[in-house]
Amino acid sequence: MNAFIENMPKAELHLHIEGTFEPELMMEIARRNRIALAYNSVEEIKRAYRFSNLQDFLDIYYQGANVLQTEQDFYDLTYHYLKKCAAQNIRHVEIMFDPQTHTSRGIPFKTVIDGITRAMTDAEKNLEVSSLLIMSYLRHLSEEDAFKTLEEALPYKDKICCVGLDSSEKGNPPSKFERVFKKSVEEGFIPLAHAGEEGDASYVREAIELLGVKRIDHGNNAMQDPELVAEIIERDLALTVCPLSNTALKVVDDLKNHPLKKMMDSGLKVTVNSDDPAFFGGHLNDNYIRIQEALNLSTDDLYQLAKNSFIYSFASPEKKKKYLRELDEYFEKHKKFSHNNG
Ligand code: ADE
Ligand code: ZN
Repeated sequence: MNAFIENMPKAELHLHIEGTFEPELMMEIARRNRIALAYNSVEEIKRAYRFSNLQDFLDIYYQGANVLQTEQDFYDLTYHYLKKCAAQNIRHVEIMFDPQTHTSRGIPFKTVIDGITRAMTDAEKNLEVSSLLIMSYLRHLSEEDAFKTLEEALPYKDKICCVGLDSSEKGNPPSKFERVFKKSVEEGFIPLAHAGEEGDASYVREAIELLGVKRIDHGNNAMQDPELVAEIIERDLALTVCPLSNTALKVVDDLKNHPLKKMMDSGLKVTVNSDDPAFFGGHLNDNYIRIQEALNLSTDDLYQLAKNSFIYSFASPEKKKKYLRELDEYFEKHKKFSHNNG
């Protein structure tokens, strides 16, 4: 079953590039930029990755991102992740980046986006992994700050597909960003947002009704409100669910109690994603493997999850068709296996 999952074509739709920063690469970049880290070894860094909630994690995540300085640093970070995608049979990925984490430290927007997009172009050519970019506003900062970021992004409009909303959810509801999302949509960006990770169902409702999101990042807590679930289904909005993130941040106490299967059974369009793989103990294939084991998912469930990852991506219709054909061929080839295992 594990090999079957590993070789299955899939897309990743919820991934923070800063969250792919492996301790080894972090130490290497810190060294070349002559920046002192608060840790002396990879083991020490890994030991610090014990979180009791989202904020605990974010404090360490922003600290790690501080060592990124040059265009080459952003290139190396992104290409390192895209190589992992190729090795996991991830055919397409939608990468979130947090410009404010870098511009607030004096790193130019151009440095960040040039490094990331150069790696994306190289990966499409050399690794056959397609990708697009999601610019996420940090919700713990003001809406005014988000407006400034939008202004900075406008010259790079053709390189950014969507806007998102991430960071500390509780106390920073989607309504705080209604105006900047309206302007972002007018400028041609597709709106997305983290909602219902730690925040309750009302955060998901606001993301849909006030921001007009076209996909929901996490969305677990929508399950608290059956009417909301019906509305999400009616609007055909997919959820980017992140199992290992949820257990690492104590959103869910144990993978065996993860709501993913219940979400699927209630009619929600669910996808599996890694969120911040360097921090949460696993990349995308680990998320699939661990959640399959924990919830005893069938091969039909796996097919549906992988299919959703392509259908609810923002890849071009031609690419979607190609990837969905690959997925169908994969399942056709392994029919016997699929048949024997659910
Ligand atoms: N930034 C990076 N990962 C995040 C998550 N899981 N929730 C909110 N903000 C994030
Ligand atoms: Zn996230």
